[in-house]
Amino acid sequence: MGFGMIATWRMALEGVTCASEMLKNGLKSDECIEKAISMVEDYPFYKSVGYGGLPNENCEVELDSAFMDGNTLAIGAVAGIKNFKNPVSIARKLSEDRFNIFLVGAGAEKFAHENGFERKNMLTERAKKTWKNRLEEIKAKNLSPYDGHDTVGMVCLDKYKNMTTATSTSGLFMKKRGRVGDSPISGSGFYVDSKIGGACATGLGEDIMKGCLSYEVVRLMGEGIQPQQAVEKVISEFSKKLIERRKKAGAISIVCMNHKGEWGVGTNVEFSFVVATEREDAKVYVANQQGDKTTYEEATKEWMDAYEERIKRPIE
Ligand code: GLY
Repeated sequence: MGFGMIATWRMALEGVTCASEMLKNGLKSDECIEKAISMVEDYPFYKSVGYGGLPNENCEVELDSAFMDGNTLAIGAVAGIKNFKNPVSIARKLSEDRFNIFLVGAGAEKFAHENGFERKNMLTERAKKTWKNRLEEIKAKNLSPYDGHDTVGMVCLDKYKNMTTATSTSGLFMKKRGRVGDSPISGSGFYVDSKIGGACATGLGEDIMKGCLSYEVVRLMGEGIQPQQAVEKVISEFSKKLIERRKKAGAISIVCMNHKGEWGVGTNVEFSFVVATEREDAKVYVANQQGDKTTYEEATKEWMDAYEERIKRPIE
């Protein structure tokens, strides 16, 4: 039986590379996905997840994360949690419980403290400077404050047919204190059923939540639709619905994988993602919307170099 992993954004590459080695060596999907997501959370230059994540309007880093086990359908999630190093591990721990599986703010922090999770100030100097600059720009140019909401989300299949999904994000840059997006919300930001497959989303949470899009992709795969077709259908139909009813659709991208390791990607913007399977090492792809379809190709060396330069560019 093969294994596989698909994840949102280039930032997932190192985590997926590490997790795919673990999967190859026979480790299970719950452990592998937690490791992969926590590597993204730990890296200070990924500015929308974990340490170095961009703050809310009060310059506080409030983090959202979820974990789901596709065998038991167990879910754990945290939202608006501050000053803990790896929200995904806290979410995974919560998924073991029968009650109180989704905790927010002070409640999530109390749970994390009582269960011995590591505390950390998640606000970096770099994120603070980005926040200050943005504040000035908003005032000077009279801009909408909201910008940037990239979630790392992954779906993982191991050799034993276990599937998991997990997400982690600092949410919308400059969000109001207490704002929660789609990422920790079951069915919206993520969903997995080991007998069918899993999906997870990134983009504007306020719009993704209006369609329960991750569940919708899994539901279609459950009807026998191939992952690529399922995800394209969900993205294109829902983007159209938003435009029809609300005049605009926010950025929405979804990755999915079925229980056979076949995968799909859909987007209404330009979007990078990472895939690893038994047959291919972890690779970054860049996807684009083409009418109702999504096309993608492997990221070029120029694209990868420009990304590296951009995320590490000094901030004044
Ligand atoms: N998709 C992440 C968020 O809106 O918070």
